[in-house]
Amino acid sequence: MKLTLTTRPLDAQAVEGWIVFVQNKKPLVNGNGDLLTELMKKSNFSGEFAETAVFPTFGKTKASHIILAGLGKASAFQIQTLERAAAAAVRAGAKAGITRFVTEGSVSLATIPEAAFVHTVARGATWGSYNFETFKTGKKKKRTEPSLTLAGSFKNAATCRRALATAEIESQALLATADLANLPGNLAPPQKIAIWAAKMAKETGLACAVLNKAELKKQNCNALLSVAAGSDTDAKIITLKYQGTDSKAKPVVLVGKTITFDSGGISLKPGKGMSWMQFDKCGGMAVLAAMQMVALLKPKPSVIGILTVAENMPSGGATRPGDIIKSRSGKTIEILNTDAEGRLALCDALDLALTHKPAAIVDLATLTGAVIMALGHTAAAVVGNNHEFNQKLVQCAENAGERLWELPLWEEHKDDMKGTFADLQNISKSNTAGTITAGAFLSEFVPDNIPWAHLDIAGTAWEETPKAWMAPGATLFGARTLIEWIKGL
Ligand code: BES
Ligand code: MN
Ligand code: ZN
Repeated sequence: MKLTLTTRPLDAQAVEGWIVFVQNKKPLVNGNGDLLTELMKKSNFSGEFAETAVFPTFGKTKASHIILAGLGKASAFQIQTLERAAAAAVRAGAKAGITRFVTEGSVSLATIPEAAFVHTVARGATWGSYNFETFKTGKKKKRTEPSLTLAGSFKNAATCRRALATAEIESQALLATADLANLPGNLAPPQKIAIWAAKMAKETGLACAVLNKAELKKQNCNALLSVAAGSDTDAKIITLKYQGTDSKAKPVVLVGKTITFDSGGISLKPGKGMSWMQFDKCGGMAVLAAMQMVALLKPKPSVIGILTVAENMPSGGATRPGDIIKSRSGKTIEILNTDAEGRLALCDALDLALTHKPAAIVDLATLTGAVIMALGHTAAAVVGNNHEFNQKLVQCAENAGERLWELPLWEEHKDDMKGTFADLQNISKSNTAGTITAGAFLSEFVPDNIPWAHLDIAGTAWEETPKAWMAPGATLFGARTLIEWIKGL
């Protein structure tokens, strides 16, 4: 999406699609109100969140079409509402063949500053223009790149231009990473992820190091290696490094679960829905997208991204239920269920993260089906060792158009993960509080004095059915929250 900002009035823009946001049933515009109100009335457009309608204007405005995009009620407004409505508007317009969009960039949305409006609309609109069409053989190869102009009398055009440039960098990272995240298991094995990460790092100026099987053995990453034992493709740990402008400050470390396909292993998953487990790499995908943003936005702190990558398959060489392994940290683990593989891949990566002497660690993982029972598909869970840090991330998520909810982590949950024959077991004894006990397991690998938060994104990492704001596929949930947090450090 080509993004531009202009202080020339909206009426002067001869483009195809004029996006009009509607809040409290009222169009958010400075002018043309009568025409819009009539359109809404005659078409029964109620302005609910994610509702859209496209009208040809037959010369009544300079734009050939008006696209109404509902924001719902002002009382229920969130950044997410605006970001998704902008995406929905672009998707609705694209369906009508529109590629050049314009919207009023300086409307009065009482709850958010002008620059946040610009940033959110631009990023949402770009996300709305994305389609994963790599394997649709019938589609035209070359599409015209869509464009969006934000027009208006901005109070501070320079600040808004900076916000737009930031949105563009973030959007490019999201769209580029989505093409990788949406690849199925056969086309995105660990090796492919490593090659992709190395190429991205080279292009953006990050350092990149990949640990292969032999190096993982040397490093005693036996928990991760146990996950890949049944696969014909080897595990990897990929580390990406951004050197911050303050070279003395401790880095923040982002860790992503990157299971390229999760069959469950010997504790095989039921067949129904198993194909969605190609998205079990999405924690790592969010970290990749965030690292690309970091590389180009150049925030103050150093940032390290670690992807713990493996495929979880059953075979004669696979890990058996009951197997005991010694993790990198030295703690021993009884693997009672090979489908609880994410925590095994993560615990070695968290231990490796400690070698960087981090100021804080955030891990992201499609870790438990239980988080969907707890929170559905509208929020991810955050579990960690520091309530203030958890709440900080909850706030960053809200500002970034994502939703996080904190779950507790108590001693009882940690006791639930103590092993019978080894230090720990990889599933709980009580078979309750699945998301929290998974977090409790991970907490054993991070000292209490390092703020650490675990984001369980199993319910939010992908969409399975079409939504107004996106087609089925990876959402890259978490990347927006991470960059919001890092920009503020
Ligand atoms: N990748 C899955 C979690 C998952 C399930 C993500 C559904 C998205 C949708 C994870 O590796 C897993 O299998 N977890 C098990 C843990 C259990 C065996 C303790 C689960 O949630 O069933
Ligand atoms: Mn699993
Ligand atoms: Zn998994």
